[in-house]
Amino acid sequence: MIEKRRVFIQKLAGLSLASMVGCKPLVAASAPVKRTGKPIILSTWDNKPANNRAWEILSTGGRALDAVEQGVMITEADPNDTSVGYGGFPDRDGNVTLDACIMDEKGRCGAVAYLQHIMHPIRVARLVMDKTPHWMLVGDGALAFALAEGMKKENLLTPKAEAAWREWLKSSNYKPISSENHDTIGMVALDQNGQLSGACTTSGAAWKMKGRVGDSPIIGAGLYVDNEVGAASATGLGEMVVRACGAHTIIEFMRQGLSPEMACKKTLERIIRLWPEHKGQQLGLLAIDNQGNIGGYGLRPGYKMTVTDDSGTRVVVPKHLFEWD
Ligand code: GLY
Repeated sequence: MIEKRRVFIQKLAGLSLASMVGCKPLVAASAPVKRTGKPIILSTWDNKPANNRAWEILSTGGRALDAVEQGVMITEADPNDTSVGYGGFPDRDGNVTLDACIMDEKGRCGAVAYLQHIMHPIRVARLVMDKTPHWMLVGDGALAFALAEGMKKENLLTPKAEAAWREWLKSSNYKPISSENHDTIGMVALDQNGQLSGACTTSGAAWKMKGRVGDSPIIGAGLYVDNEVGAASATGLGEMVVRACGAHTIIEFMRQGLSPEMACKKTLERIIRLWPEHKGQQLGLLAIDNQGNIGGYGLRPGYKMTVTDDSGTRVVVPKHLFEWD
């Protein structure tokens, strides 16, 4: 019996070897590849100051991981950005709650969700990655960790955001995310050593239910980095991105040979095919491959991306699938 089983296994091994003859793998084998390249940064929406900060790091030989972290911190501290960090619109009860994640070229990652009172959730996510045995901390635990790491407890609800919330309370009409109520900075970067990293940070959907968490802190949904292939991020209605594991799906399409732009388009098409009820929402995707080629796609008009390389920083308008009805 044992002998029969041994022969069977040998035959199987022979078969799989034979079936590999003449087949070319679609991507390089998993051994780390040493690359050098031209650094480049891509972020969601018009986030020029964030890209410029990230560029200060990349252009002087810094690491993509540090560039994306420092870059998105600019947006987190901007009181005029009502969908990220300080100044973000609150939930229905007036609480500003923040979600963020970060991922590096080795697949190391850290995240926080439902974090309150801390200006830089991306810094906390980085510290979760660097200093804890975990990948994500949420709520009071994330806050306690941030305070233990020396961060300050602050009021993140600006007078502008509070006034908008009080105005919203008059109707309490929950609006889905659109180009007027856009959200989230997702930033991906390739450094001079050919290493990729990404960061994603948001205050989430304005007027969300207390406790709601979107796609932005979820590795594989709001952000994914695979140094063999590329890095991708998402902005828009998190409920829609999570269902499709958006950022990871983009990377898998790129692994099969699609360009960053086509991989984003195919991901949007899949989402709408599977869940056509999301067609009226906004969703923006972006991606970079490990050679520094970039691309993105919007579900609806209005989505923008910011790109920075050695020719400067500019805002680009990707294609979209549908017009607004
Ligand atoms: N994409 C951000 C959110 O849905 O929270």
